[in-house]
Amino acid sequence: MSMPKLNHVSIAVKDINKFAELYDKLFGITFSSTKHLDSQKVYLRFGETEGAKLELISPSSADSPISKFLEKRGEGLHHICLEVDNLDMVLDGLKKKGVEIIGTPTTGGSGKKIAFLHPGSTGGVLVELKES
Ligand code: CO
Repeated sequence: MSMPKLNHVSIAVKDINKFAELYDKLFGITFSSTKHLDSQKVYLRFGETEGAKLELISPSSADSPISKFLEKRGEGLHHICLEVDNLDMVLDGLKKKGVEIIGTPTTGGSGKKIAFLHPGSTGGVLVELKES
């Protein structure tokens, strides 16, 4: 496996615009316009920082996985995303190492193939893998 790249750090928030305004005011980070991802029932905005992005996610419906996350854990860090060259190959290797993959690979907000790894297998951190 070649060295993965940190693509983004994702933060779950109730009000995506309020958070984007705060980080613009505090750190001068400009965020993309809001995208809706039907498959995950979330709104997304991306902020550019040197080397990686900040992803803001908020639920677009009460049955969104992010609604459940916010109820249980409150606002804050949701996942990190590592970019890999060949997602299927990396997933096969991880399965052999006993890593639990959540569901099946899907298409992410960027139109690229993604998969999520269960935090129980990855030191308590939800990890998104994204094909580069
Ligand atoms: Co993400």
